[in-house]
Amino acid sequence: MIKKISMVWMVLIVGLATAIGQKINIPRVIADAETQTRLMLTEILKAKNNSPSLVSPHVLKKGKLELVPSGGWTSGFFPGELWYLYELTGKKTWESEARKFTANIEKEKFNDGTNDMGFKIYCSFGNGYRLTNDAHYKDVIIQSAKTLATRFNPKAGVIRSWDSYKNKWDYPVNIDNMMNLEILFEATKLKGDSSFYNIAVSHANQTLKNHFRPDFSSYHVVDYDTITSQVIKKTTHQGYCDQSAWARGQAWGLYGYVMCYRETRNKAYLQQAEHIASFILHNPNMPPDLVPFWDLDAPHVTDEPRDASAAAITASALYELSTYGKSNKKYKLTADKIIKSLTDNYRSPLGQNKGFILLHSTGSKPSNSEIDVPIIYADYYFLESLLRKKKLDAGKKLLN
Ligand code: GLY
Repeated sequence: MIKKISMVWMVLIVGLATAIGQKINIPRVIADAETQTRLMLTEILKAKNNSPSLVSPHVLKKGKLELVPSGGWTSGFFPGELWYLYELTGKKTWESEARKFTANIEKEKFNDGTNDMGFKIYCSFGNGYRLTNDAHYKDVIIQSAKTLATRFNPKAGVIRSWDSYKNKWDYPVNIDNMMNLEILFEATKLKGDSSFYNIAVSHANQTLKNHFRPDFSSYHVVDYDTITSQVIKKTTHQGYCDQSAWARGQAWGLYGYVMCYRETRNKAYLQQAEHIASFILHNPNMPPDLVPFWDLDAPHVTDEPRDASAAAITASALYELSTYGKSNKKYKLTADKIIKSLTDNYRSPLGQNKGFILLHSTGSKPSNSEIDVPIIYADYYFLESLLRKKKLDAGKKLLN
């Protein structure tokens, strides 16, 4: 078995090494991302149409740029992109835009009606604090972690995802929620309060135990009974069916366990991340360019739309995974291949698509919503991947 797996990796590595013989012109791709983002800034002003509550771009639908209020789960990605452009270029103009768009969503630090605190506050204020040491940003991160912690149920040992869909689940926990643990780990470091850390570890352990199938694919939503702490059912919300592997969910799980390993050094999390990576990358339905169909198990899958966002999240996670363990160079080569695919074949032509960088993501096919569209979190994780690649290629540390 071990021999067989090694052979598969060998074939993949040789293929990848050949495929990425042609290099990615990172300075060019960054300059193009700046051009698109300048366009996006002007398009946001037009799309606001005198609605001050709409603050961040979300998606391009039928040619129309849709914005979200600060409470939308995607409100932190655009501020985060602006921080990444500042980090990638050192230009103060990006810092100043990042500060403006970050400030727009500060009130979310008190919003206890959602688990998406990490997406909103860590992508924006988290990156802002990492790059500026602004003491106010630190306070916002700590307050946000306090608010998020109120959604933790000690009996079930997990943080609740949605409050809505009461007819569908009792206490739903989605795999996406792994991404919200990062802000809890950060708050522990900033405040010296281990209760945030303990909540994050409990959530990661319960998810490891209950969300995964024997092949290391994950269910999208696990429903808990908070009186007995037992699992009631394992289902989907954005995937093809309960038993299928929703592509973005697999990517969230991978990224989540790589990050949890970074924060805890618990080998079980590293192993889990490696198993998830193997499931994604060796999946028979994964296309050769490593940009997955929106659900890897959808029937007639080759006719289905792709999800470029899942590919971008996966690439970013693989760059980090490549820095752990002895023989993990293969993960860097694979991430390079994904970024090369996205760069060459999934980017918007310059000056088009209201400034989005990537095309071809799928938000929620079962709701017939956001299918084969440019979407903001694909751009965020694409820029994060470019930044990680740039640092690794220069022999620098990934995280500072
Ligand atoms: N809620 C996160 C996602 O749609 O992936």
